[in-house]
Amino acid sequence: MQQLIDQINKYRQEIQSEPVSNAAELEQFRIKYLGSKGLVKTIMGEMKHIAPENRKDAGQLLNDFKLFVETHFEELKLTAGGPGLSQSGPAYDTGLPGLPLPLGGRHPISIVRNRMISIFQRLGFSVAEGPEIEDDWHNFTALNLPEDHPARDMQDTFYISKNPDWLLRTHSSSVQIREMEKRELPLRIICPGRVYRNETISARAHCFFHQVEGLYIAEDVSFADLKQTLYFFVKEMFGNDVNVRFRPSYFPFTEPSAEMDISCLICGGNGCSVCKRTGWVEILGCGMVHPQVLENCGIDSNRYTGFAFGMGIERITMLKYQVKDLRLFSENDLRFLKQFNQEV
Ligand code: PHE
Repeated sequence: MQQLIDQINKYRQEIQSEPVSNAAELEQFRIKYLGSKGLVKTIMGEMKHIAPENRKDAGQLLNDFKLFVETHFEELKLTAGGPGLSQSGPAYDTGLPGLPLPLGGRHPISIVRNRMISIFQRLGFSVAEGPEIEDDWHNFTALNLPEDHPARDMQDTFYISKNPDWLLRTHSSSVQIREMEKRELPLRIICPGRVYRNETISARAHCFFHQVEGLYIAEDVSFADLKQTLYFFVKEMFGNDVNVRFRPSYFPFTEPSAEMDISCLICGGNGCSVCKRTGWVEILGCGMVHPQVLENCGIDSNRYTGFAFGMGIERITMLKYQVKDLRLFSENDLRFLKQFNQEV
């Protein structure tokens, strides 16, 4: 066995000092060591003469040697005349430009989220973030949804089996509660983030999506302020030609509550399958913060008022770029994602 080890070491030295500087010598090297009658094949054939108790070690030794010769050959190829290159001198053209490195681009959801943030920042809103695993208080109870409140069923919730008080947040309104509890008023925040709902995955729903919710609490905040803020947002996001309407709605944490629609960008308001022939598409929920929610966070509801709104970034992105299937956003198909690269 020792004899074999010494022999292999000698071959290794010999191979390393083998002069190979052009394509012809490279080919000779290949034939001599890696060809069908070359050294590697020959010594592999010697295996049968090795004592059975040494076969395992010898096999390992010879495999390592084979790998060594192959790797060395690949390295020589780079420096000594690879196929198609000059027959003498270095094998690669040092004047060739480097391989382009793909730079990547932003995900459409990130592009739209960043744009939304910058629109609201111009109105004085700052960004607030909070945990995705929430407790019942911040996701529901403080938002005027006590236990057994039927409105809890509006959002199918993922609970965490370890602790029934924990859940994956169903909206980023929970961040608004956390910020109100800090009670630094006036408060003007937007809360972008991922939220989770136990919904069957389809072209229009997923088990997670992204939201931007907003909150403004100060003295004398009115519904007119809410409307003006949202009008500004829509014009900045979709342009001046888009029409807007408010419809009365219900949320336990706002009173009065509304949903806002914009005129369908696909058919221009004439009616198509996307807007279900109504000419309008819903983009967000909003309203004046319910006094009970303010009180739950220790804010004097006689002195302070506020508005809140919440929207899905996926929905806004689908309308902006006319994407028809929500699943495209999480499939990581580069053919889809590359189409947004210009807008970093
Ligand atoms: N939290 C609501 C949702 O996720 C949206 C909303 C936010 C509605 C603020 C009104 C006010 O559906």
